[in-house]
This record gives sequence, C-alpha cells and structure tokens, in this order.
Amino acid sequence: MLIIKDLRKSFSGSDKPLINNLNLAVKAGESVSIQGASGCGKSTLLSLIAGFERPDSGNIVINNLPIASINEENTKSIASDIDSFRKQHLGIVFQSFNLFDCFNAWDNIAFTARLKGNADKAYQVALMDQLGILHLAEKPLSQLSGGEQQRCAIARALVHRPSLILADEPTGNLDEASSDNVSRLLYETCKQAKTALVVVTHSSDVATKADRALKLHKGVLESTNADMA
Ligand SMILES: Nc1ncnc2c1ncn2[C@@H]1O[C@H](COP(=O)(O)OP(=O)(O)OP(=O)(O)O)[C@@H](O)[C@H]1O
Ligand SMILES: [Mg+2]
Repeated sequence: MLIIKDLRKSFSGSDKPLINNLNLAVKAGESVSIQGASGCGKSTLLSLIAGFERPDSGNIVINNLPIASINEENTKSIASDIDSFRKQHLGIVFQSFNLFDCFNAWDNIAFTARLKGNADKAYQVALMDQLGILHLAEKPLSQLSGGEQQRCAIARALVHRPSLILADEPTGNLDEASSDNVSRLLYETCKQAKTALVVVTHSSDVATKADRALKLHKGVLESTNADMA
C-alpha cells in the first residue's frame, strides 16, 4: 500500500543527499520501524511520505496514488489536493501530542473525526476502549498523564480509518513503562484496524515490536536484523 522507489532528497547547503535512492514497500496492515542517528533524515522521510516535503526525484505511491505528483493534472480526479489526500489516507502521531488542551479527551478525538468528515461514534468508543482511555473521555487534557495523552493522540490518528499511520518518536516524551504500554497499543490497534504503520523511534524496545525493523543509514534503509528482512 506504500511504495517508495528511488527517492532522493537534499537540502541546499549540504554536499550529500540526505535521502539517497531509498526504496521501501509496506503492505496493508504491516508495521515497519525506522531507527537511525539523530539528523540522518528520519523525520524528513516521514515528511516526504506525508507530502509536507517534496522529493528531488523518485516516487512515493500510497494506495496507488502518487504523492509526489499529487497536484499534477493526472492525479487531480483522484485527490484534488494534498490536504484531502491526508484527510482520507493518513494518520499522524507526533512526539509532542498536539492535542487541544481546552477540550476533554472525547472532544479531542471527535473534533478531528468531524474535521476529516468521518465521525463514527461507535468506532470512537471502540478505539478508546481498546486503548484504555474510554473512562477518561470527560477529563480535560490537562488532567491526563503523558501516556494517556499519547493514547488519545493514537485514537485521534486512527478515528477516520486511515490506511497508513506515520508516527515520529511517539514515545519520545514517555517513561519506559509508559513507552512500552503505548507502543504495544499502537502496534496492536493498527494491526486490528489493518492500518499500515511506519514508526520512527530511538528506542530499540519500540523498534523490535514492529513486523520489520529498519535503520536509516547514509540515505538508505537497511534491515537491522537479517532474519527479519
Ligand atoms: N527544511 C529544512 N531545510 C534545511 N535542512 C533541513 C530541513 N529539515 C531538516 N533539515 C536537515 O536535515 C537533516 C535531517 O533532519 P531530520 O529532522 O530528518 O533528522 P532526524 O533523523 O529526524 O533526527 P532526530 O533523530 O534528531 O529527530 C538535519 O541535518 C536537518 O538540519
Ligand atoms: Mg526527527
């Protein structure tokens, strides 16, 4: 469902391309983790997949839709712009939860669902229940722990039934126990929803829970374990 072919990206001022003929294929419902040194281009890769950044060359295709040429004439009938593409196909989870502090847990998730034109109360209840936050629905965000807030952010990313979740260090602000719990729930919920998942993480514990653990090194993705490739 996600196919990246010969992707290249340089930022002006650097001599070597950050992403250098990178290839990746992720199947529907599959989870892939990406580790790598700070500054190697992990967040940039997620931005390219989400269409926030444009590649210098190469192709990114999600659900048969070419992201890199989304505004060009040939794809206009499928997705009129990159925002509608994101609304339909993508869910994003950040290190900082990016929730609305003035809303309670329920409204944070419901608001996003409405914004994406896909409000489904029963599905939201099921998701929040699965993530162990249904009993917190009425609580203001300010009264939730970091782990609870991140579980809200995961529910929010999944509530419109996207086919792909991109998570950039989703447990970066959590302690070890909470990180273990949140990452386990992230993988499980995506698997159950048959949503593909690409997780960038500095934590080996989080990375090894994925179906495939990869490392971004010198602009390409390598397997961290030959047996898992
Ligand atoms: N918009 C931009 N313009 C110029 N340079 C950029 C831009 N975005 C990122 N970079 C540079 O690209 C490199 C990779 O950045 P990126 O954020 O992708 O790294 P990362 O692997 O996610 O690192 P970390 O693990 O610290 O989050 C860095 O050297 C960064 O300064
Ligand atoms: Mg980063």
